[in-house]
Amino acid sequence: MDVYAPFAAVYEDWSAPMTEDVPHYVALAREADGPVVELAVGTARVAIPVSEVIGRRVIGIDVSPAMLEKGRRAVGEAGADVELREGDMRDFELEEPAALIYIPYRSFLHVPTWADRRRVMERVAASLRPGGRFAWNAFVFDHHIAHRLDGTRQEEPVPHKLRYVPAENRTDITLDSGATISLWWATKNEWLGLIDVAGLEVEALYGGFDRRPFDETSTEYVWVARKPG
Ligand SMILES: C[S@@+](CC[C@H](N)C(=O)[O-])C[C@H]1O[C@@H](n2cnc3c(N)ncnc32)[C@H](O)[C@@H]1O
Repeated sequence: MDVYAPFAAVYEDWSAPMTEDVPHYVALAREADGPVVELAVGTARVAIPVSEVIGRRVIGIDVSPAMLEKGRRAVGEAGADVELREGDMRDFELEEPAALIYIPYRSFLHVPTWADRRRVMERVAASLRPGGRFAWNAFVFDHHIAHRLDGTRQEEPVPHKLRYVPAENRTDITLDSGATISLWWATKNEWLGLIDVAGLEVEALYGGFDRRPFDETSTEYVWVARKPG
């Protein structure tokens, strides 16, 4: 089942507030000396400007046919060199090792268990060239915010309800139609453990897309990891 299909219908509005991530991923892609891959590429919101700036192909992988259909339309309209493939980030394979693999917009949090995330990390590590980078961003989990928002209806950017399930460290986002997607939170130590078991190294942890240092007040993890070599 394509759980993202109802979100595909409203995705332009849903993602409209998120613009500050694009220059960060574009900057990393400019430094990539080889294939560039976006996991959970969705509608190619980020992949299109990345490919336009670097003047090279970006491969985008996503599990949702509905998101990919919107992505194909956007890529065609932009005339961008983005190759969209249907697939799950837990078991993707590339023909050629990548110089940069990235996951924007907290999409890594759609993967439910630690073991699933380990599979993603291990697939990424196996798919990078030596010295290649893996970059992603995710919310810093905050019980105060989760508690305050639990059960509330938000009007922006698209009407939706939030439900916080502490026992599963999960937040559910439900549209008026009843369609729900979920985010499973991860702590800093979980991310560090995943990087470690996959044999990657932390190159940087920023507290925002302006590359400020991560500190006790940070609300976003902006990770850059590297494959040794
Ligand atoms: C918030 S959207 C992000 C889309 C795009 N990267 C962006 O930044 O606008 C999350 C995307 O993750 C995709 N997704 C969720 N689980 C996935 C998985 N296991 N493998 C690949 N894609 C997945 C969804 O289909 C959806 O397109």
